[in-house]
Amino acid sequence: MFGGRRNNNNNLLLCLSLLYLLSVVSNAAFNVPTTSFDDGYSPLFADFNIKRSEDGRSANLHLNRYAGSGFISSKYYDYGFFSSRIKLPGNYTAGVVVAFYTSNGDVWEKYHDELDIEFLGNLKGKPWRFQTNMYGNGSTSRGREERYRLWFDPTKDFHQYSILWTRKNIIFYVDNVPIREIVRNEAMGSDYPSKPMSLYATIWDASSWATSGGKYKVKYEFEPFVSEFTDFVLDGCPVDPIEQVAGTTAFLDCTAKKDEIENKEYSQITPRGQRSMKWFREKYMYYSYCYDTLRYPVPPPECVIVPSEKERFKETGRLKFGSIPRRHRRSRRGHGRKPNNNNNNNNNNNVDSKGLKANM
Ligand SMILES: *[C@@H]1O[C@H](CO)[C@@H](O)[C@H](O)[C@H]1NC(C)=O
Ligand SMILES: *[C@@H]1O[C@H](CO)[C@@H](O)[C@H](O)[C@H]1NC(C)=O
Repeated sequence: MFGGRRNNNNNLLLCLSLLYLLSVVSNAAFNVPTTSFDDGYSPLFADFNIKRSEDGRSANLHLNRYAGSGFISSKYYDYGFFSSRIKLPGNYTAGVVVAFYTSNGDVWEKYHDELDIEFLGNLKGKPWRFQTNMYGNGSTSRGREERYRLWFDPTKDFHQYSILWTRKNIIFYVDNVPIREIVRNEAMGSDYPSKPMSLYATIWDASSWATSGGKYKVKYEFEPFVSEFTDFVLDGCPVDPIEQVAGTTAFLDCTAKKDEIENKEYSQITPRGQRSMKWFREKYMYYSYCYDTLRYPVPPPECVIVPSEKERFKETGRLKFGSIPRRHRRSRRGHGRKPNNNNNNNNNNNVDSKGLKANM
């Protein structure tokens, strides 16, 4: 999982932390069956920019001056484990966003649910940053972003990125390191996603906000920007969302599948996993909404305040001694994931990080 040559920016600390990581996590990836592209997915937009591999197990998403591209799972899932190995575009990728997320915004425009992993472009030679986020039942005014760096260069090799979503908890994984867990509690109400969602993967031009708050735009002289996807995992109970929620005739009982998922190894974080999650969050998380007391004087109910994490953050939720320069705020408009929504900036499906800028 840590393959690939690390040539530059290796410093002693990084080596030590890698050694530490290797000592706290096992290298074994989750043992989950993968699906072919055509068995699991359909084009979402710009089919001409989706390049399937000959064996059908992989697909590349291109962004060029004509369009980005995206695919969507052909089914909706009533909870599940969603995963892919992804290799991000290299070189100059400012303004380019690669998103891997679950959503049902196409069914419930106003009350949609969403779980995000979003990679936020970068300048050549700078580390990629990414964020995770959650919305439930249209809670787009309550962003729950966390932002991080990675302990490897995601453009050099494939790494596995996963979203686990059960009735009890949500876990985001990078390889087999749990990086964030949200444990459901009653106070969250419908902010916790609970309606069937499909899985999306997209690459798109987010020049207006992605990199240093829009300072650096996509440069099409470097096109095409290619994000590679393989080892697709869609492990959940496939349903028709309307019938499922309405409980009408075709209601499918997903209880057995939900139980199965909740008993899988990826649904519980072992003590060892807890240690690697702590390691990751202390070292690589540079923003958390839970510590952003200017934004949320009372942290949202799922926040678990970890003293060793909290002491590193200012009241803005940003790192105290971070090397990340603060840039002036500018409101974000347009998100471009759904091309059919693009013309309407007030349509807030799939709004991510409202009021938060990327690479701040
Ligand atoms: C980066 O750019 C160089 C020179 O333009 C090119 O040879 C190389 O293939 C590019 N690498 C990637 C990952 O796109
Ligand atoms: C979502 O919100 C709507 C409107 O407030 C409400 O009618 C519905 O019951 C909520 N859904 C869930 C799953 O809580």
